[in-house]
Amino acid sequence: TIHADADAACAVVAGELAALIRERQAAGRTVVLGLATGSTPVRLYRELIRLHREEKLSFRHVVTFNLDEYHGLPRTHPESYWRFMHEQLFDHLDIPPENIHLPDGTVPRAEVFGACRAYEEKFRAAGGIDVQILGIGRTGHIGFNEPGSGRDSRTRLVTLDALTRRDAARDFLGETNVPRHAITMGVGTILEARRILLLAWGEGKARVLADAVEKTPTDALPASFLQGHPGAAFHVDPAAASAL
Ligand code: GLP
Repeated sequence: TIHADADAACAVVAGELAALIRERQAAGRTVVLGLATGSTPVRLYRELIRLHREEKLSFRHVVTFNLDEYHGLPRTHPESYWRFMHEQLFDHLDIPPENIHLPDGTVPRAEVFGACRAYEEKFRAAGGIDVQILGIGRTGHIGFNEPGSGRDSRTRLVTLDALTRRDAARDFLGETNVPRHAITMGVGTILEARRILLLAWGEGKARVLADAVEKTPTDALPASFLQGHPGAAFHVDPAAASAL
């Protein structure tokens, strides 16, 4: 869907999430959300915070699992995704802290494999992810599934692409400070979500978005695998849609 602008897109996406949260709450059930970081979902999170404050949308029955985390960063690091999610969303909601899950970036390498399996086990035990929110990286990554990530890849430790590290350089005050590795849900993991909502704004995403939507699915562009998911939708602004 091409919306008038990013705010209009976020109003629609937040509306879908709010309707599901309210429906489940009325039935006494939880909702499991898969969440993303980056600048793209910030407006969506702002809109969810607004709905919480102004329209009494409660997050007490919402359980969240984030897509990814930099490897080697403690939670307290200014650029950790743990910190980002708390600052941009969780600290402003009534979500119980025990409902919040992110991959642990401090797990030693030797223990990463087990930690990734345990992470997947947790959201499976919670009933699987109802709605997964995604951005898209300029390499075509979703989460941190860089080119080369297979359709069936699972949560694992990955090496970040040079372009991804360059794009993160400003936040880290220099490319040398950007971690080289991350833990990310795999493409196969993401595709198991019942609903997937990918957001993209701005001209910088136009090329990769067009390729993701129009090219034959390939692991050279992991976002293209979303074409095969019956519950996936892309919500974009006119600039991001300009190369379609
Ligand atoms: C990071 C995140 C992705 C995100 C991407 C795009 O690499 N791991 O989940 O989609 O950045 O970032 P932005 O939304 O800032 O363009």
